[in-house]
Amino acid sequence: MSKHNLLKRLGLQHPIIQAPMAGTATPALAAAVSNAGGLGSISIANFDAPTARKNIQALKALTDRPYNINVFVHEEGVADAAREAQWVDFLRPEFERYGAQPPAALKNIMPTFYDNEAVVQVLVEERPPVVSFHFGLPPATTITALKNAGAVLLATATSVAEARLLEAAGIDAIVAQGIEAGGHRGVMDPAAPDDELTTAALTRLLATHTALPVIAAGGIMDGAGVAAYLELGAELAQLGTAFIACPESAADEGFRATLASDAAFHTRLTPIVSGRAARSLATNWVALDQGTHALGPHPPQPAYPIAYDAAKALIAAAKAKGDNGWGAYWAGQGAPLSRGKVPAAELLGQLVAELAAARKASAAKL
Ligand SMILES: Cc1cc2nc3c(=O)[nH]c(=O)nc-3n(C[C@H](O)[C@H](O)[C@H](O)COP(=O)(O)O)c2cc1C
Repeated sequence: MSKHNLLKRLGLQHPIIQAPMAGTATPALAAAVSNAGGLGSISIANFDAPTARKNIQALKALTDRPYNINVFVHEEGVADAAREAQWVDFLRPEFERYGAQPPAALKNIMPTFYDNEAVVQVLVEERPPVVSFHFGLPPATTITALKNAGAVLLATATSVAEARLLEAAGIDAIVAQGIEAGGHRGVMDPAAPDDELTTAALTRLLATHTALPVIAAGGIMDGAGVAAYLELGAELAQLGTAFIACPESAADEGFRATLASDAAFHTRLTPIVSGRAARSLATNWVALDQGTHALGPHPPQPAYPIAYDAAKALIAAAKAKGDNGWGAYWAGQGAPLSRGKVPAAELLGQLVAELAAARKASAAKL
């Protein structure tokens, strides 16, 4: 039995979490994973309170197994009209190429959960069995309210210092997000120096330097990977990229095609899309960040999540003309190991079988 027996506490059969993926992980995807004995997750970070409730209820209707609801607890960036206008002007030629106009002004399209009373209320009423925080922690009153509503609380840490904050706040388990991970890097203070720890180093550090159970996340694509992180002291593994290509995900054809292409071999961590560092497949955004796109060197970016408003508009304008080159296609370094359109329950079954085989092989070597 593991140190904390998080598996049992969460009511899972298998030590695998399908990562919350805002815009990609749907209630159908999460339910398929939960029904197969893993922990399915959705993010409600990009939803207002009524839409969040609708999505949680859709997930509840599809499973009676434990599931996870994820929120973003970021510090909202400061608006700067001049910087935002300069950014929009910089992107304008691309909008015009697609016969579209950029937004007249940029908005904060992802309000933080930190003081979002309406969404806190939805969670307290809907009582999800698991809630996870990314980018930071809510106030102690919210943590207490969610615990009183029966939720086990998970939160992302990318360093030992962040993990200590989770411990002090009464979080139940740490999602150890390594630099390999797809999507937004969950650092709490984006202005602080980032030690860019790998999933292996971070898992090992947290397993030895904190008293909380550790969930390894970043670059894990198969059962052998899950087995390796369990060996290193994690109790569970959280996989995002591995589930993107499942038919139940909301990934569009452009995302699926890019994931299946050579671009999967060249993921990059870049703030260029949203204003905060996120690992993306090689797209026009990455080229822009690297100074290799025809638009040339870019001006200072608007803050997170204001920059994301411009990006989403350009993504939509390009997509309307059949061009997927501007997609916000987050993926981890293990992206080339994606298995294509395998249904989520079947994928979980494959992962579990591979995990058992890896453990057996490792025991046989002893
Ligand atoms: C497409 C995509 C979207 C993501 N969205 C979220 C999110 O909404 N909330 C969150 O906590 N993590 C999000 N993540 C990060 C995952 O929680 C996790 O850290 C990551 O997927 C692990 O690395 P992997 O993708 O290599 O498996 C996202 C990851 C991807 C690939």
